[in-house]
Amino acid sequence: MKISVIGAGYVGLVTASCLAELGHSIDLIEIDQEKAEMILAGISPINEPGLDDLLSKHISHNLRVITNYNEVHKSKLSFVCVGTPQMIDGNTDLSMIKAVSKSLGTALSMHDQDHVVIVKSTVPPGTTEGLISSIILGYTGDTENKIKFAMNPEFLREGQAITDFMNPDRIIIGCTEQYVGDTVASVYSGLNAPVMRTAPTVAEMIKYASNALLAMKISFSNEIGNICKRLDIDVYDVMRGVGMDHRISPHFLNAGVGFGGSCFPKDIMSLIKVAESLGENPVLLKSVIKVNEQQPLRMVEMLEKRAGPLAGKVVAVLGLAFKNDTDDVRDSRALPVIKELLRRGALVRAYDPLAIPNMSKIIPDIEYCESTAEALKDADVCLIMTEWPEFGELDCEFDLMRGKIIIEGRKILKCGRAEGICW
Ligand code: UGA
Repeated sequence: MKISVIGAGYVGLVTASCLAELGHSIDLIEIDQEKAEMILAGISPINEPGLDDLLSKHISHNLRVITNYNEVHKSKLSFVCVGTPQMIDGNTDLSMIKAVSKSLGTALSMHDQDHVVIVKSTVPPGTTEGLISSIILGYTGDTENKIKFAMNPEFLREGQAITDFMNPDRIIIGCTEQYVGDTVASVYSGLNAPVMRTAPTVAEMIKYASNALLAMKISFSNEIGNICKRLDIDVYDVMRGVGMDHRISPHFLNAGVGFGGSCFPKDIMSLIKVAESLGENPVLLKSVIKVNEQQPLRMVEMLEKRAGPLAGKVVAVLGLAFKNDTDDVRDSRALPVIKELLRRGALVRAYDPLAIPNMSKIIPDIEYCESTAEALKDADVCLIMTEWPEFGELDCEFDLMRGKIIIEGRKILKCGRAEGICW
C-alpha cells in the first residue's frame, strides 16, 4: 500500500521504517531539511536498536524521505506522527498538529482522491474528529466525503521500539466507518495481534489511560517502597509476590527514583488538564505526579543524611538517560537530582554510556566523564540514576572513591555495596 508518514520523530521514524519492512511503499514527510537529509544518508537522528538496519535496507527502495506534501494525495493513507509536547501550564501544545492539518488540507484540496488521515500522535480526546478533521475539511470542502479520519495510537517503548511495533499487544483502531477501519487494519495484516475497533475518542482515551495506569503502578510501587524502607523490608520481594496475582501482573512494579521520558509525565499532565477543563479534580492522577516529583528529592535527602552537608562534596552521578538503552534525557530523574545537588553546592561528575551529549545541552556546567572509573575517582559519594546493565557489574571500581556511600535510584547493582532509595 502507498502510505505517507508525517513527521520523522520517534514514532514517525519507527512507523515509517517498520511499515516499509512490512512491504508497504512509504513516503516519510519531514519538513526539517537537515533531518531529512540525515535520514536519507542512512543516519538515524535517534538512537534505537535495529533502526539503522531498517533504514539502510529500505531507503531508496520502498522508503522515500521528502520535505513537502506535493504527492501526499497519491498515498491511500497518511499517518500523522508529529509531537504533542507539554506547554508550561501543563496543557498539550497542538501547534504541530494544526500545522500538519493545514498542510494536509491544502495538499488534498488540489486533488480528488480518497484518503484516510490516521492520527498516531497522542492527542486529547476529541482532537481527531474535532480540530484535525475540521481544519482539513475546511481546506478541502470535501463535498464528496472522500476524506476519512481514524485514530490509531502507538504503544512503543523507546529502546525497544522496533520490537514493540512488530509485536504489539493490541492494535487499536478508532474510526466511525467499517470500511475505513478495514483499510487501516489491512496495513497491519503482517502482524499477529488482536485488533480492537472503536470510536476515535475512545482510541485517544485508551492511549492516555494506558500511560496513566502504567505510571500509577510505578508511583504506587514507589510509595509502598518508601513505607517498606522504613520497615526494613525489600519492596522488590514484596512486589514479586504482589505481581504473581494475574490481575496485577509483574510488570511496571519496579520501585525507584520514578518515571521520566517524553510520554508519562506529559500525558498524565495533559489528562489532568483535560479533566480539570471538564470540572473534575483528578486526585489520583495528581498524586501519581506528586510521588514522582518527590522521589528524586528523597534521594538527595537520603544522601545528605548519610554524607552530611553536600556543599563542596564530589558526587559521582552514574546514568543520565531517563532509562537504559536510550540517549533520551527528557524528564530524566537525573535532571531534578543534579539540579538539587548543584543547589546544595555539590560538585557533580556525571557519566552515561549514551546520554552525555543530550544532557550537556541542558546542564552544561558540570563535569562529564568518559567512563565510570573517571567519574568515581576520588568522589565522596555516588548516585546511580539509570538502569544501564554495565552499572550492574560495578564492584571494585567503587574502591576508586574517596568515600564509601553509594545510593541506587534503580535496583541494578549486583555487588550489594549500595543502599537503595526504597529498599
Ligand atoms: C512509555 C510506554 O511504556 C509506552 O507504552 C508508550 O507508547 C510510550 O510511553 C509513549 O507514550 O509513547 P517509554 O516512555 O519509552 O514508553 O518508557 P517506559 O519503558 O515505559 O519507561 C518510562 C519510565 O518509567 C522510565 O523512566 C523507567 O525507568 C520508569 N519505570 C518503568 C520505572 O520506574 N519502574 C518500572 O517498573 C518501569
